[in-house]
Amino acid sequence: MFSILLFFFIIFKFLLIYSETKILQGHLVTRENWAFLARFCFLTEQGTFRYEFELGGNEQNLKILLYYDAPNQWPSVYPSNKTCMEKEAILWDGIGQIVPLSTSIPEESGCVQKEDAIIRCSNYRRFRSSRPRWWFIALADCSSKTGLNISYWISLTNAPHGYFWKEHFSADEFCK
Ligand SMILES: *[C@@H]1O[C@H](CO)[C@@H](O)[C@H](O)[C@H]1NC(C)=O
Ligand SMILES: *[C@@H]1O[C@H](CO)[C@@H](O)[C@H](O)[C@H]1NC(C)=O
Repeated sequence: MFSILLFFFIIFKFLLIYSETKILQGHLVTRENWAFLARFCFLTEQGTFRYEFELGGNEQNLKILLYYDAPNQWPSVYPSNKTCMEKEAILWDGIGQIVPLSTSIPEESGCVQKEDAIIRCSNYRRFRSSRPRWWFIALADCSSKTGLNISYWISLTNAPHGYFWKEHFSADEFCK
């Protein structure tokens, strides 16, 4: 009996420590063509970012923009008076930080237009960081004159790794 209890305790603890997932879901409607969606503390090694989007129909050049917390990244665009193009431009030579949500590259974007004419995108990206850091997720369509209208589902997961430092703290406490 004792060993069964112990077994469950270990499994339970394993799950608590090894999976930290944040799920965000909603409908973004804005007149802006660049919008902040979420931030997440990715710990070292691997993290996974999954997305599902449903586009309202007017977005021609929608992109996910992934910024991190270095001074020349997120703090340089938010808040700022930079234009949409300027906010995108700082990521151009980045490490895959621009994810175009286009049906012309379905393998990369996971975007397909269904029979009902609605574009749906579903895919994932893996993250690697040299240290725990904040990542900021924005959506942008700099060509849009009317803004954004997008349903989203996003899941952000820190990959399993050494747990001693997560035993008593939530991941957020490791990002300054
Ligand atoms: C947003 O898109 C949906 C279709 O996905 C549409 O029904 C709705 O009217 C749109 N809303 C705005 C404010 O354009
Ligand atoms: C944006 O521009 C306005 C007006 O020019 C100014 O008051 C404000 O401080 C600027 N904001 C930033 C973050 O640069």
